[in-house]
Amino acid sequence: MKLGFIGTGSISDAVIRGLLTSDYPVDQVIVSRRGERFSTKLAADFDKVRIEDDNQAILDQADMIFLAVLPQIAKDVLSGLSVPKGKKLVSLIATIPIDDMKAWLNTDAQFDRAIPLPPVEHHSCVTAVYPGSPDVMALFDKLGGAVAADTIDAFDGYGTGSALMATYFTLLESAAQWMVAHGSDYGDARRYLAALFSGLAENTNKSPDQSFSDLYDGHITVGGLNEQVAQTFLREKGGAAIHTALDEVFARIKAASSS
Ligand SMILES: NC(=O)c1ccc[n+]([C@@H]2O[C@H](COP(=O)([O-])OP(=O)(O)OC[C@H]3O[C@@H](n4cnc5c(N)ncnc54)[C@H](OP(=O)(O)O)[C@@H]3O)[C@@H](O)[C@H]2O)c1
Repeated sequence: MKLGFIGTGSISDAVIRGLLTSDYPVDQVIVSRRGERFSTKLAADFDKVRIEDDNQAILDQADMIFLAVLPQIAKDVLSGLSVPKGKKLVSLIATIPIDDMKAWLNTDAQFDRAIPLPPVEHHSCVTAVYPGSPDVMALFDKLGGAVAADTIDAFDGYGTGSALMATYFTLLESAAQWMVAHGSDYGDARRYLAALFSGLAENTNKSPDQSFSDLYDGHITVGGLNEQVAQTFLREKGGAAIHTALDEVFARIKAASSS
């Protein structure tokens, strides 16, 4: 299998590094020279990576081609390229509908969208794929797992959920600062909280049959301190704030997709 990448930026870099350190069968990875910082380093690090200056040459030579430029330049980059028969396309480009890209490229090729996130480099992140062609699912499965979204709303829902990353760090920073204000060293508080949340994530991953609500029950003492913090969070409208934020992000994705 020859893979191609049009747009060699930070997310292509993570996907390529993840694939080339997995047992996914890749003969060659052909990357666009742009961005040069990433393409040069990839080619230096992996014998299987080759740089191409011309995006059409990537489409001509690779079997499965990943589109990974920024949404605002996607139309300019894709219009005028031609997709030879039998190619498979995977767009990582946020918000741009498949039908728009098919029209720009004048193709009816197999076309998926996917939302890989930086931890795919270490095979530790589940990637949402729409509509979820089996060969694309199999590829992302090697990077930590894949979920197929049956509808575009479900796919945009995963994109919305991925916007919680900064809130996770905000929660940890806020807790660490509170601990520092009560006498902890920042580095010790950071280490303590990082290990606590990593342990919780591990427990969660090892208990796939338990809902988050079951895990809540398993991690609290009724009337205890953890229950108290969760109840305060809900009383202070933390749950409602999360729903409002997700609603707003979902609406923003929908607006960008239709503009
Ligand atoms: N980063 C993430 O976590 C993430 C996750 C999922 C999806 N995405 C999506 O993936 C896409 C790329 O994101 P990114 O974070 O990787 O962005 P990025 O680091 O800015 O990478 C985009 C790359 O496209 C290159 N490029 C510009 N014009 C080009 C052209 N005509 N031909 C080929 N390449 C060209 C740029 O090169 P120059 O530097 O030379 O301009 C740049 O290196 C975006 O649509 C984003 O929404 C990102």
